[in-house]
Amino acid sequence: MALMVWSDELSHGVASIDAQHHELVDLMNALYDSAVAGEGAVTVRLFDKLLEHTVAHFRHEETLFIATGYPDASRHRHHHELLTAKAIEYRDCAAAGDFKTLTAEILPKLRDFLAFHIQKDDKETCAFLNKQGIC
Ligand SMILES: [Fe+2]
Ligand SMILES: [Fe+2]
Repeated sequence: MALMVWSDELSHGVASIDAQHHELVDLMNALYDSAVAGEGAVTVRLFDKLLEHTVAHFRHEETLFIATGYPDASRHRHHHELLTAKAIEYRDCAAAGDFKTLTAEILPKLRDFLAFHIQKDDKETCAFLNKQGIC
């Protein structure tokens, strides 16, 4: 079963951001499946890939903040920093091979953080970007 299901609630009408969010959801599900199967090396590799893509995605959003003069940029950027720090901390659990904690606690928590961020901070930002003609 998928850990995270893509839905319209995660889509905010900015094509580049929506596509990257969708990719993060797919990666999160692949990571979860791998952890459930207890595939140590694959799980760590997927976690690293998720981290890489998440950081690149955050940089993309932050580039758009600067390009458009987004007024709430510093708060949003701070939330990116917090989420990145959490993901790095959780990645160490994957590296330690604790699949039970990873699948039962860590990955559901990371999913909830990501879903909340997309539905709150990113939604507000995308509404602003839409007003600036970015879609
Ligand atoms: Fe985002
Ligand atoms: Fe964001």
